[in-house]
Amino acid sequence: MAIREVLKMGDPRLLVSANPVEDFASIELARLIVDMHDTMRSLNGAGLAAPQIGVGLQVVLFEVDTNPRYPEVEAVPLTVLINPVLTPLSDEVEEGWEGCLSVPGMRGLVPRHAGVRYQGFDATGQSIDRSVRGFHARVVQHEVDHLNGVLYPMRIRDLRHFGFTEILFPGQNLQDD
Ligand code: NI
Repeated sequence: MAIREVLKMGDPRLLVSANPVEDFASIELARLIVDMHDTMRSLNGAGLAAPQIGVGLQVVLFEVDTNPRYPEVEAVPLTVLINPVLTPLSDEVEEGWEGCLSVPGMRGLVPRHAGVRYQGFDATGQSIDRSVRGFHARVVQHEVDHLNGVLYPMRIRDLRHFGFTEILFPGQNLQDD
């Protein structure tokens, strides 16, 4: 349908809490999800939240393909998650590198719950209930943060671990996500 412009850090629309979706049958919701998908794919992102394209609704999308260069990162099936609720599975926290399409060209080391249960709805209003760990749990927490007006740099504990991707990971040609 359409590739939309992704808002960048500094835009106040990224700092606002999103509203829950109430009408799962609306054509606007269907169009939003297609646009988010097209936009995420065009930028090779691992995830996208509706506020990143200026829509204040609780809709996120994520997908991680297996990549032979990163065998430790497990694949995550394409998931549309609406009105999500996150529950940590334990007190365990892990630090990991993150990027964001709204913070292009940068990476930061971010603490996240090692495992989370996420509940919500898919694009057709069917309920979703998954318990996940590792990179999958990290991606979900990153995307759901966008629905609460939180960008990953706001969670970095030590800003010495925040910088330009090409400097932190030279030669790896990492995408924004
Ligand atoms: Ni992001």
